[in-house]
Amino acid sequence: MSALPALKSRAAQPMVDGEFVFTEDDFRKIAAMAHGDAGIALHETKATLVYSRLAKRLRALGLTSFQDYCALVAGQDGVDERQKMLAALTTNVTRFFREPHHFEHLRDKVLPPLLAAARAGGRVRLWSSACSSGQEPYSMAMTVLSLAPDAANLDVKILATDIDPNMVAEARAGVYGPSLLAGMPDDLRRRWTAPAAGRPGDVRIADEARALISFNELNLIGGWPMKGRFDAIFCRNVAIYFDDDTQARLWSRFAPLLPLGGALYIGHSERVAGPAAACFQPDGVTTYRLTREMAR
Ligand SMILES: C[S@@+](CC[C@H](N)C(=O)[O-])C[C@H]1O[C@@H](n2cnc3c(N)ncnc32)[C@H](O)[C@@H]1O
Repeated sequence: MSALPALKSRAAQPMVDGEFVFTEDDFRKIAAMAHGDAGIALHETKATLVYSRLAKRLRALGLTSFQDYCALVAGQDGVDERQKMLAALTTNVTRFFREPHHFEHLRDKVLPPLLAAARAGGRVRLWSSACSSGQEPYSMAMTVLSLAPDAANLDVKILATDIDPNMVAEARAGVYGPSLLAGMPDDLRRRWTAPAAGRPGDVRIADEARALISFNELNLIGGWPMKGRFDAIFCRNVAIYFDDDTQARLWSRFAPLLPLGGALYIGHSERVAGPAAACFQPDGVTTYRLTREMAR
């Protein structure tokens, strides 16, 4: 019999030094779940980030190892925790009027003809497809209201969706602290926000803006129940977390949901690639117009 101590396989070696043992095997399981559930691609270079974000969940649950955590989230009893795991692994950073050129493009180029058509009985549909805590769809709504303060009387609707139910709930609440208002032009803040009841310094988005928006949970890599087309789709700072194939599929799914001339706004470090790229033409920085139909 060999006197040599059993060598641990690489997959069983700790990847990160810390309170909990976190092996390559644990990392692979978590990465596979994040990819399968939300399309999120986690490279091994993210091991420390994954560890630190999920170590909080292990402490909250009183677990002592990532092996136990992986077993929990992989099983029937771990459905809720799996959603919390995804929420912990995703980044929700957002701001009002983030990448302001998109809202200028929407205001100056996209909305004027659409609102004119809406005044003649037409409909306007906009989609914020990874809305996080709501700053993006409210910025869209305020942009609409800056041109049409009576938009509630027109057939103008904004769909705001996100995979994370906590973010959707925050977005729906529409209450923001003073530090979160940077980026919102003063005239729009004065006109379309009011002091929030019971929270000194916080503001609540005005009912006129809220009335334009429907908030819902939606996974961009899952099924989409929407049937009609959108005049503009905001899909910003989320595709960056997906691998190339998932991104390409996403652009291909947006194309049939836009009319010719419909606008697609993407994040500053994203680009439209894959089969759908031939259907879009740039119309400004990270702004595209559908110029060729794509089969549904
Ligand atoms: C960095 S935030 C971007 C928010 C906003 N679009 C912006 O640019 O400011 C990314 C958002 O994407 C959401 N997300 C991640 N994966 C998703 C998926 N598969 N489907 C829908 N939303 C997803 C996250 O929950 C998060 O709120």
